Amino acid sequence: MTSKATFEIEDRYMAPFFAKQQISIERGDGVFVWDEEDNRYIDFTSGWGVTCLGHAQPVITEALINQSRKILQNPNSGLTYSPARAQLLEVMQTVLPNHLTRLFFSNSGAEANDAVIKLARKVTNRLDVISTHKSFHGRTISTASATGQATHREKFNPLMPNYLFVKYGDLDDLKKTLNENVAAFILEPIQGEGGVIIPSKDYLKGAADLCRKNGTLLIADEVQTGFCRTGPMFVTGALDVRADFITMAKGIAGGFPFGAFAMTEEVADKLEFGDHGGTYCGNPLGCAVAHAVIKYLLDNNISSHVEKMGTFCLKRMNAWRQRYPDHINEIRGAGLLLLIEFKSEHIATQVSDQCLAEKLFVRQTQGNGIRVFPALNITEDQLQEGLTIMEKAIQSVAV
Ligand SMILES: Cc1ncc(COP(=O)(O)O)c(C=O)c1O
Repeated sequence: MTSKATFEIEDRYMAPFFAKQQISIERGDGVFVWDEEDNRYIDFTSGWGVTCLGHAQPVITEALINQSRKILQNPNSGLTYSPARAQLLEVMQTVLPNHLTRLFFSNSGAEANDAVIKLARKVTNRLDVISTHKSFHGRTISTASATGQATHREKFNPLMPNYLFVKYGDLDDLKKTLNENVAAFILEPIQGEGGVIIPSKDYLKGAADLCRKNGTLLIADEVQTGFCRTGPMFVTGALDVRADFITMAKGIAGGFPFGAFAMTEEVADKLEFGDHGGTYCGNPLGCAVAHAVIKYLLDNNISSHVEKMGTFCLKRMNAWRQRYPDHINEIRGAGLLLLIEFKSEHIATQVSDQCLAEKLFVRQTQGNGIRVFPALNITEDQLQEGLTIMEKAIQSVAV
């Protein structure tokens, strides 16, 4: 096929939800991808924080082949045991905070959040859910209800009742809003889609304390931040924040659609057969891939690599801010979840377009931001190559 033929078919038959970039990607290798005419691009988005080990990663291919030769889906699905699932459960215990000992698997981040909101209501026998302004938790009806961004909500009003919002990073606002009706507070430890917002050092622990005192369960949505995206395996784990649930997806299986949620023994004690489930939940194929990805992260000490690469990027990006103070507001982020905030959406759009013209994928975020979240095993040379394209793009817009 040619790109042109692919555009025509997709434009004709796909539901109109995405403003498409006119590029048809045929294959990838590490941080690079190629279109149907064999043009090479650098991917600084890792498919929105998913392909954490790069494209066509051999350990993932191997896990897919080996497991698919054995079995994809068990008879009676989750009613039967699976060694692939058991292996994943075991390795997850080594990476999760110690107090989160019970797990279940989903097929996406939204599905994991949806499930824990439902379960938190049962466990607490309360209805209200607090979320934060500018948060993003998914696109199902309950997770859109928990998402604090008008663009994802307004068209679908009225959404689910009993959802309340507080200012991100503001413990007083949380304190004021908590009461005996609040089942859960769902919180991203760093807001990703909201524009890579990092709260103050004490916020997450403070929020956990307030929730505990109020009998409210804390759901840490680590869908974007988990699995070394910001350096440590989990942000809440690194900061010793005691969440009652952690939700996960994206990097967990390096590109295979998969998700998970972990909970405390106390929460699990209040749940019973039939409270949750799903045809594909914990399917052996996804489990085998997630196991391979987590093993790779551990065996290759990706956590410290990400910290090093993040520091390297921030240094270079901060120099841009010094050089272009009329165009760049701020550089922020942690590990390999970074954002350049421009003075206007117009500038960010121009820079993003210019990057794409020079064959670099970046992700425009919240209008005036450009998010950089490449594969976690990206090398310094590959980062340099992409950052040089970005720098030239900013330079060309700034003249
Ligand atoms: C923090 C957070 N939670 C949930 C989701 C939804 O995950 P998914 O797209 O896998 O449903 C996302 C996706 O960007 C996210 O960033």
